[in-house]
Amino acid sequence: MNAKRNAGTVGGSVEPGKEKDFFPVSPLMLFPDTSPEFRVYLNQNGRFVLYTREKDSFDETTRRGLFELGIDKVFVLAEQKDRYDGYLEENLGRILDDASIPVTERAQTFYGAAVQILEEVFASRLPEGLSRKLYDRVLAFVQESVRFLSREESLKSLAKLISHDYKTFTHSVNVYSFAMALFTACGLPAEDCVRLGLGALLHDIGKAKVPRAILESPGPLSEDEEGRLKLHPIHGVSMCSMLPMHQETVNVILFHHERFDGKGYPTGTAGEGIPLGVRIVSLCDGYDNLTAKKPGRRALTPFEALKRMREDKAGAFDMELYKRFVLVLSGANIV
Ligand SMILES: [Fe+2]
Repeated sequence: MNAKRNAGTVGGSVEPGKEKDFFPVSPLMLFPDTSPEFRVYLNQNGRFVLYTREKDSFDETTRRGLFELGIDKVFVLAEQKDRYDGYLEENLGRILDDASIPVTERAQTFYGAAVQILEEVFASRLPEGLSRKLYDRVLAFVQESVRFLSREESLKSLAKLISHDYKTFTHSVNVYSFAMALFTACGLPAEDCVRLGLGALLHDIGKAKVPRAILESPGPLSEDEEGRLKLHPIHGVSMCSMLPMHQETVNVILFHHERFDGKGYPTGTAGEGIPLGVRIVSLCDGYDNLTAKKPGRRALTPFEALKRMREDKAGAFDMELYKRFVLVLSGANIV
């Protein structure tokens, strides 16, 4: 079925469904000249109305049609979430890299993708009370970061990472969300939150230069492979060198693998010699890595991950910050 034809059926084809059966998506995430393998619905006065079916083609006119109808959210079936994620993974990097699309539009697309991941973290991985307080503030910070990234060079760097390793992109937004909660709990001023947050968002961008076989290796890495992986903070800084970045942002990219006991890389700096914002990002990075499914191991539960961080990896993190992070995750009212 053709999407344009469907647009005319709005209000006609009603599928019963409850809010929980769907998740919201910005129309910006439906890319021109693609045929998504999921259904798209509109919500009209609480009723979910089928807009396009699986494999319907989406073109610029269809997308603009949504905007002209004043629609800023469409809906996808929760059971088709995997297909939607696959669609983003396949198309987002390509769109960001497409010089024929205006930079502002591509930056908005990046914003839409980041916000979608952010929403998931706030809805399911942070305590409800905290989410309500923090979400709007964080959204404003993301907007600020995206304004900064609205230039050809940074969109190209992001496109490179997203096409190379989409999981690193979702991981970066997760780390960004947790770090924002902890920055706020530590009382950092808004200006620092924006600069450090941008660092969190870009901390692993240098992985675009590490072969996928290394990033996805389930077993222990050879010395040579490990050496190549450990270059990613330096690659990251060089990929961003043409951007007018604040030193705090650069510090996060360069030093996020330093450890509190001085056994990290690339410099082996220890303790409070590592800037506070970097220690926060590194803690959130560790937590998100442990709670994610990795090649060769399952995702740990939040409890298991925090336990592992306290026991096996105690030397890696600033334990005062760790305690604060546990309070944030537990919903203690400190933000
Ligand atoms: Fe990293």
